[in-house]
Parts: sequence; C-alpha cells; structure tokens
Amino acid sequence: MTTSPAALDKALITSVEYGAQSFPFDEWRWLRANDPIHWTDVDEIENFWAITRHRHITEISARPDVFSNEKGNIVIFREEDDFDREDNPFNSMRVIIQMDPPDHREFRKVASGFFTPRGIKRLDEIVTNTATMVIDKLSKSGSDPVDFVSEVAQRHPLRVLCTILGVPPEDEDHLLTLTSQLFAFDDPDLGPPGDDRQAAADLLGLQFYELFNGIIEDRRANPQDDLASLLANAHLENGEPMGLIETLGYYLIVFNAGHDTTRHSLSGAVGAFLEHPEEFARLKEDPSLMKTAVDEIVRWSAPVNYMKRTALEDYQLDDVLIKKGDRVCMFYGAANHDEEIFDDPDRFDVGREHNRHLGFGWAEHYCLGAHLAKASIAALLEQMIERIDSIEPAGEPTYTASSFVHGYKTLPVTVSWA
Ligand code: HEM
Repeated sequence: MTTSPAALDKALITSVEYGAQSFPFDEWRWLRANDPIHWTDVDEIENFWAITRHRHITEISARPDVFSNEKGNIVIFREEDDFDREDNPFNSMRVIIQMDPPDHREFRKVASGFFTPRGIKRLDEIVTNTATMVIDKLSKSGSDPVDFVSEVAQRHPLRVLCTILGVPPEDEDHLLTLTSQLFAFDDPDLGPPGDDRQAAADLLGLQFYELFNGIIEDRRANPQDDLASLLANAHLENGEPMGLIETLGYYLIVFNAGHDTTRHSLSGAVGAFLEHPEEFARLKEDPSLMKTAVDEIVRWSAPVNYMKRTALEDYQLDDVLIKKGDRVCMFYGAANHDEEIFDDPDRFDVGREHNRHLGFGWAEHYCLGAHLAKASIAALLEQMIERIDSIEPAGEPTYTASSFVHGYKTLPVTVSWA
C-alpha cells in the first residue's frame, strides 16, 4: 500500500499505475475503512470524490436525477483533454450511457427486448459455436505456452458481437484494433499511435463511423433478423425513426461496452483459476455451480473499474456534502470487496450465494448486455471444464494501462487437456 496521499490518489486513477500494478486493492481497503468518500487531487486530472463502499455506490446510482451521466461524461478526463467539446466525434454520437432520463429510458427501450434472457436465447447457437471454435483452436497448441488473452478471451466476444452487429468477418480485426485503441487509449502498446490525443480521438471516431455507417445503410436496404437491423430501423415512442447519430451511438456502445469487458472477465476467470486451481477443479466436479461461478467471476474481475457521475445539485452522502458540479467516481471493484456486504470478500468462491456484486453496475444504467455477457462466459467455461484438466501459468502476466476498463493485457498459460 502506498503511503503519501498523492501516491494514493495516483494509484486510484492513473492509467500508468494500473498498467504496472493492476487494481489498487490495498488502497481501496484502506479507503473503505478510513475515508470511503475521499476527495482526490492529482495534477493534470480533474478532481473527484472516490467512492469505495457498496452502499454509497448503490445510493448514487439510484439517483440519476441528482447524479448525471450526460453532464460531464462518464470517464475522468485529463485536464489537457478537450473531449467534452461538442464537435468531438464521440460526443456527436449520442450513446445511452451518456444520457439521463427521460431520454435514457426511451433510447434504452429500443434494444432492451433484444437483451432480455428470452431475447438472447436466439443467440445460444452463436455463443456455443464460438466458444467451441476458440477452444478447438486453442487445443491445436497442445501443451505449448499460449497467451490466453489474444488466443481466447478477445476472440470469443469479438465473434459473438460482430455476428449480432452484422460486421463482416474480414472487418473483425480492424474493429478489434479500434476498440483496443479506445479502451486502452493511454497504453503504449494498445492505444492509438502518435502524441496528439485529440487527433487520435477524432480519427478513431471517424473510423468507427465509416464501419458502422456502412452496416446501417446495408441493414436499412436489406433488413435481417439481427440486432444490426433492429437498430438500423428503430423507431422512437413518437413514431419517428431513431436518428443517425443515436443509431451510430448504439452500435458504438454495444460493441465497445460488450467486447473489452467480456474479454477481461474471461481472462480474469483464468487468472483467478491460476491462483485458485481448486476452484477450477470444483467447477469441473460440479458444473451445477456454473451460475454462481459466472457471477463470482464478474465480481472478481470487475472489468469496468469505475463510472463517473456529475452532481446536478448539492447532495448529502452520509457525512459528506457533495457540491453541485462535483464529480463522483464509483469504483466497482472496491465495492465488490466490501466487508459490509460480502462474507470473506477476498476469497474467490465459485459457489458464492447471494452475490450482490456491482460488476454490472446498478439501477438506471445497469449493464444492458449482462445476460449476454453471462451466457458468453458460461459457454466458454462449459467448454473449458469439459475439455481441460488443468491450466498452469507460463510466465508473468501484464495488465492494460487503463484505469477505466481494465484487465490482463497478456496472460501466458499452458493447458493440460482431458
Ligand atoms: C462481463 C462483461 C460486462 C461487464 C462487466 C459490463 C459492465 C457494465 C457496467 C459496469 C455498466 C455501467 C452500469 C452503470 O453505470 O450502472 C455497463 C453498461 C452497459 N453495458 Fe455492459 N458489461 C459487460 C458486457 C456487456 C455486453 C456483452 C454488452 C452488449 C452486448 C454490454 C452493453 C452495455 C450497455 C449498452 C451499457 C449502457 C447501459 C445504459 O446506459 O443504460 N455490456 N456495463
């Protein structure tokens, strides 16, 4: 655990620290116990309240009338960044995670039917076939060391999401590069090339636009039974077609919110199994634990590290007065280890019951793709427990230099096949 206040604040939010040390569990533990609503002050980054207790995060998330996603965006900015400006291509695509009610509810409804447990049933075949395909491919490496992230964890959600969004197979790798650049913007290996951050953001936005706009035009001319067509031809409550900006925004949010998160959960699962091989053996022995195992993996990996909200008015949160205009940053991984909520929170337990983790957030913006994410994780684990005896580490892992969506960058393993 770092000692000085400045070092603590840096460990909480700077991407370079996450690249070096991954999640700041020690700092979070200290904050939960001593300063759960903590004011941060890091040079060159906007100041914010760091929220680390479960009950504070659920309280904030349940008040979208006070804590806004729309005003001030959902990520912490560097002061040098001007990503708030109106002509920024990301801001010109309106996405539901950056909307407040009532717009948020209206636009969320457009796709919510598709993502219900019943709605995603139609994806069972895609999800199972993709999981089988990536594990088939992995099996070709035999017992040679492989990087689980590039070989499996990023391939599985990529195929599933590209299928539902109508992205042709030849564009999959291009889209993978774009989403990696977006979520690992500060990572020297994964982020966009060049030093001009604004130019890189502009170019990224343009490339996403070109790719998704082509699909929208195609699905308007030739509708099919997929999410791509549903979005391209969606109407709002007033009967008007959904605008191009919002339609593009939907493609962007579904793909980007769905890919890196699921990928980090899958590699997070394997990271947890490497540390706790008895839990992999337990799941192999008793596959009826799959449902609790999947939730425990999301609790443990918490790939969305935080969401930011901006206060629209003064608000008393416990003993702290949050002032109008203040930013609050909710650290989900910190809440997922909250001693007030979880028994033995630092234990990875595939049979954990009543798991009230916040890995998918809470309330108004609760993850729209949670059921699909869980089905994708379960499908891959089903293949793994059936075909793999054990997994061993094959070198040191590395972590993405990103404090927003975070997880393994590489995870070298060797596999013993059943
Ligand atoms: C393990 C994988 C995933 C994790 C951990 C995750 C986590 C999250 C979190 C924490 C939020 C914000 C919740 C809040 O602010 O309260 C969110 C929102 C969202 N997620 Fe996920 N997600 C995952 C997979 C997916 C998938 C597969 C999709 C779609 C295919 C998806 C689509 C979305 C969308 C559209 C939102 C915005 C919802 C809104 O603003 O109403 N996510 N997700």
